[in-house]
Amino acid sequence: MGSSATEIEELENTTFKYLIGEHTEIMWQRLKGILRCLVKQLERGDVNVVDLKKNIEYAASVLEAVYIDETRRLLDTDDELCDIQSDAVPSEVRDWLASTFTRKMGMTKKKPEEKPKFRSIVHAVQAGIFVERMYRKSFHLVGLAYPAAVIVTLKDIDKWSFDVFALNEASGEHSLKFMIYELFTRYDLINRFKIPVSCLIAFAEALEVGYSKYKNPYHNLIHAADVTQTVHYIMLHTGIMHWLNELEILAMVFAAAIHDYEHTGTTNNFHIQTRDLRNLVIEMVLSTDMSGHFQQIKNIRNSLQQPEGIDRAKTMSLILHAADISHPAKTWKLHYRWTMALMEEFFLQGDKEAELGLPFSPLCDRKSTMVAQSQIGFIDFIVEPTFSLLTDSTEKIVIPLIEEASKAETSPYVASSSTTIVGLHTADVLRRSSAKGSTNDGSFFPDYSLAAVDLKSFKNNLVDIIQQNKERWKELASQGETDLHKNSEDLVNAEEKHADTHP
Ligand code: CMP
Ligand code: MG
Ligand code: ZN
Repeated sequence: MGSSATEIEELENTTFKYLIGEHTEIMWQRLKGILRCLVKQLERGDVNVVDLKKNIEYAASVLEAVYIDETRRLLDTDDELCDIQSDAVPSEVRDWLASTFTRKMGMTKKKPEEKPKFRSIVHAVQAGIFVERMYRKSFHLVGLAYPAAVIVTLKDIDKWSFDVFALNEASGEHSLKFMIYELFTRYDLINRFKIPVSCLIAFAEALEVGYSKYKNPYHNLIHAADVTQTVHYIMLHTGIMHWLNELEILAMVFAAAIHDYEHTGTTNNFHIQTRDLRNLVIEMVLSTDMSGHFQQIKNIRNSLQQPEGIDRAKTMSLILHAADISHPAKTWKLHYRWTMALMEEFFLQGDKEAELGLPFSPLCDRKSTMVAQSQIGFIDFIVEPTFSLLTDSTEKIVIPLIEEASKAETSPYVASSSTTIVGLHTADVLRRSSAKGSTNDGSFFPDYSLAAVDLKSFKNNLVDIIQQNKERWKELASQGETDLHKNSEDLVNAEEKHADTHP
């Protein structure tokens, strides 16, 4: 008995040293040592119950310390979360932020099937090609017929307030297909890359089928259409489209459209012809995995200070990632609807977990989840830093382009760099497509030139809306949220009340 106490005490002495430091790895080793030691004692039968209990409690406290230390370490190295005040953010929200948006903990939580699979996307491309071959025999280029209501909703495609839900209704639940087709047309991608129209349409339809497979309230084709339009808005209004070449623009639109496509892929031998496109798309889609969020933000932040300049693929990834989490920066009506859809998706998962007798994942218990609090946390620690990095990065890239263009005598388009010439081409095409009146009524002639880029209002608009949304959640949070029914009623009432006073 005496010997067992000494063994543990020895461990205890060495362990506490490590509890203060950050040597998580060593702490884990110690913990393993303590547990092994306990097993040995049990095997020898030289332990009394009181000692055993004490030692197990001690092991539990070490485990807890390791957990806390590890969490803190993750949050410290990925320094965005480290200044969360423990009393400012409820522990559930904090745990959720840490487990979802950092690499290690997010990874352990995620089932492998939850990741988008590139192979299945290739499968969808293949399906598109196949259908195209079938159709080529009987048809020439088949365009996409736009219902009148679709044309009306697409008029706002260049706006931050674009209502993707309205497009989805107007198109009979085909918002993704129309979004893809419209942007491929506007950016002239169909001509530049000789994409057969029927192939593009078949591909978009195959994507829609994949997105609809699990009937998700949030991760469905509307979300894909939303992210695709948001990427377009960002490229257009930051002027980044003048910096990107056409292959990169294609990669951006394509990656946005497919980024959450989930489908169990079957074997296929289709090879994507352009390797560069494949690599860019893979990098961008992977960057939307939230477990890499803090690392991504940190890397890009650091690289902004570097003289070598900006990594193109990383910038493009940031645009897609920002678009993916952009709804808290959209008008309250859109943001609220997306939040409720996402919460419903989380709660459905929670229902399944309860059914299986599993513990709830963070934010998945419909009876206790603090929706408003979690949104404030999400905005504070995820959305704001991402958009601030986005505006800083785009400013660093675009301001020199604007200066270069304004120095040129003849037109704002004439510049020495080849990327600007590509920008000229794309801007030209965008202008022509709108002048044709297919998506605009002609009364308004948008200026897509670099000279028209207004980075200040791009930024201020975002900052203002995010702030307003945060205030609304704070109002709701202050009313308290304990059970979901009351909570959702509160939210709906508040929504209606607000709609009344702010038509
Ligand atoms: P996904 O679209 O795959 O990638 C971005 C993720 O951010 C998204 O899934 C959600 O898991 C998460 N997310 C987006 N919006 C919110 C929100 N308002 N609150 C909490 N999580 C969000
Ligand atoms: Mg995703
Ligand atoms: Zn997404």
